[in-house]
Amino acid sequence: MIKSLIHRIVAIPLIYDLIQTLVGAKQVRQRLQRQLTGLNQNAVVMDIGGGTGLNRALFPDHIRYICLDNDPVKLSGLMQKEVDGHALLGDAGKMPIPTGSVDMVICTSVTHHLLDDVLVQFFQEAMRVLKPDGRFVVLDAVWLPNRIPSRILWKYDRGSFPRPAQTLHDTLSQYGKELHWEEFTILHRYIIGIFKKHEVVS
Ligand SMILES: C[S@@+](CC[C@H](N)C(=O)[O-])C[C@H]1O[C@@H](n2cnc3c(N)ncnc32)[C@H](O)[C@@H]1O
Repeated sequence: MIKSLIHRIVAIPLIYDLIQTLVGAKQVRQRLQRQLTGLNQNAVVMDIGGGTGLNRALFPDHIRYICLDNDPVKLSGLMQKEVDGHALLGDAGKMPIPTGSVDMVICTSVTHHLLDDVLVQFFQEAMRVLKPDGRFVVLDAVWLPNRIPSRILWKYDRGSFPRPAQTLHDTLSQYGKELHWEEFTILHRYIIGIFKKHEVVS
């Protein structure tokens, strides 16, 4: 009951953004931003589970930003903020996006919301929509039960499927070729992974 009340309050876009600031999300995003360079003029960036569009600020003005989320309340929060980009209602496991059309798929704090089968569908979809030289960037907090702050944060987090870093790494590596992997701690334990499509040998 208390947990569900907390979830309802946290779902309010303004409160959600405030909590993100309090739990150190700004520092985490700054770390992520170092990995997001080299996008061409008019590059298309898909932010999957992009929520209220906080990731838009990580990119230069010239990119085309699309925020896909399955929660219309989050997307309306994005539209109220007049974020420079498009809001798209859809599911991470079945993206309404043409094959090979996206320069970067980014996804922050989303994998822990997805069941194993949806996670796999999502990784496959991310690789499908990427251009041949596109990049798939994943940031998420991971399951590390011996850290007390992690245990407390996971207790109240809405996402029910935190995974160990190794599990995420191994699953991602099945669907894409690793370009970068790092693990770090800012209150929570996090991973940043960058993958590209596997090369097709003809
Ligand atoms: C913790 S929030 C992260 C939001 C944003 N990426 C950020 O870093 O601020 C998780 C987001 O994933 C979205 N989400 C969860 N499951 C999803 C799914 N199957 N398809 C699309 N979005 C999903 C939620 O609606 C929510 O906006």
